[in-house]
Amino acid sequence: MRDPINATPEPYKIKMIEPIHLIPADERKARLREAGWNTFLLRSRDVYIDLLTDSGTNAMSDRQWAALMVGDEAYAGSASFENLEAAIREVYGFPHVVPTHQGRGAEHLLSQSWIKPGQHVAGNMYFTTTRAHIELAGGIFEDVIVDEAHDPSAELPFKGNVDLKKLEAFIKRVGAANVAYVAVGCPVNMAGGQPVSLENLRATAELCRRHGVRVVMDGARAVENAAMIRAREKAWKGKPTAEILKEMCRQVDAISVSAKKDAYVNIGGFLATRDAELYEKAQNLCVLFEGLHTYGGLAGRDLEALAVGIREMVQDEWIEHRLAQVAYLGARLEAEGVPVVKPYGGHAVFVDAKAFLPHLDADELPAQSLAAWIYEACGVRAMERGVVSAGRDSKGSNRHPELELVRLTLPRRVYTQTHLDFVAREIGALKRRASNLPGLRFVREPKHLRFFQARFEPLPVKSAA
Ligand code: F0G
Repeated sequence: MRDPINATPEPYKIKMIEPIHLIPADERKARLREAGWNTFLLRSRDVYIDLLTDSGTNAMSDRQWAALMVGDEAYAGSASFENLEAAIREVYGFPHVVPTHQGRGAEHLLSQSWIKPGQHVAGNMYFTTTRAHIELAGGIFEDVIVDEAHDPSAELPFKGNVDLKKLEAFIKRVGAANVAYVAVGCPVNMAGGQPVSLENLRATAELCRRHGVRVVMDGARAVENAAMIRAREKAWKGKPTAEILKEMCRQVDAISVSAKKDAYVNIGGFLATRDAELYEKAQNLCVLFEGLHTYGGLAGRDLEALAVGIREMVQDEWIEHRLAQVAYLGARLEAEGVPVVKPYGGHAVFVDAKAFLPHLDADELPAQSLAAWIYEACGVRAMERGVVSAGRDSKGSNRHPELELVRLTLPRRVYTQTHLDFVAREIGALKRRASNLPGLRFVREPKHLRFFQARFEPLPVKSAA
């Protein structure tokens, strides 16, 4: 196996650059205060290395930029939609395609089409927007992921797997007729980008079919999942990523996709299915919420760039480099003594904030605090994935997930090895003075998806025992 600390050279060279600056320490302090200690509220111009998300922050290829020029901007029947539909049929294998402005648009169409109020949806750990749309449609979410997914240090190759016993018990408990569908995230963002094996996906689908329950894949990063299957699952070792992705898609009735991830574009999404009834319903709702069913809230040029990106994303050279870059950052951080979730996922390295700031209690928001202090220390922007993201339950109490993480997310084809070295070095230095870092408390808490817009203030400094 390749030593992850030996970086794999980028399979591209740089044709256009965008300047970035590290503003001075006193300015970072002031900007963080203005942003209410929430990294989502920082201005991008005040950020040096932006690891907030890999969503819509990718660098397009020269071919994608060229494709923008031939976008067909017709309101109806755009030729660019035909190109996108052909690419999705070819790469994912679904006949019916409804374009949406981004992933949550597809989640909205899916939830509204398939959930009757009071019905249940099971999934392998929640995702923020996915659960919000399930609940908006009157659904109740049930987590059926394997227990190990909640343990940052458990080193299993497929920590995103569905626990089949939990799933079967759940279906029997609520009754198959009360299950709207089962949603399998491949991979599981909130668990650290952990993949699902093909064996588990197949078994999940078989179990659902036996009970007459429909199965959907959240395929925001399905290509990364496929590449991790290629690397880790015996039966699929070394098989082309494209073939594995197709096989994954064969297991499910539909896929909801945020194209802002795998497909290297800055905006876009879609719902694709082989279920003619879902297609009909979703196409009709699309007109209400997104735009006509041949553009779904996107410009013709966006559809065109996405069609090209979908064909690029399954090329092994690209996706292998992506995984190698994440592993490189993970290994560098570990060498600096930073506690991270193992094994590394496909889109990010997740720092274990509980282990980084052991002197803070859960309600002192360790991950939110750590993301703020990382920005203050070195201008690197990360994202909280812990108690703040988890929100409140239907009774209004804070949910307390086991995982309290800070995500260092790598945009695709954007940063170089030297940037990653800087990130690891600075976060390592912060770790060595972590016992002086205070927690945060809410001063403003929005109702929906609170992590995006909440404001905080620091608590008094308390020392580690
Ligand atoms: N599903 C998963 C697994 C995601 O990670 C996201 C977005 C969505 C659905 C929704 O897609 O943003 O296009 O509407 N994740 C982003 C992130 C926001 O930073 O992880 P969207």
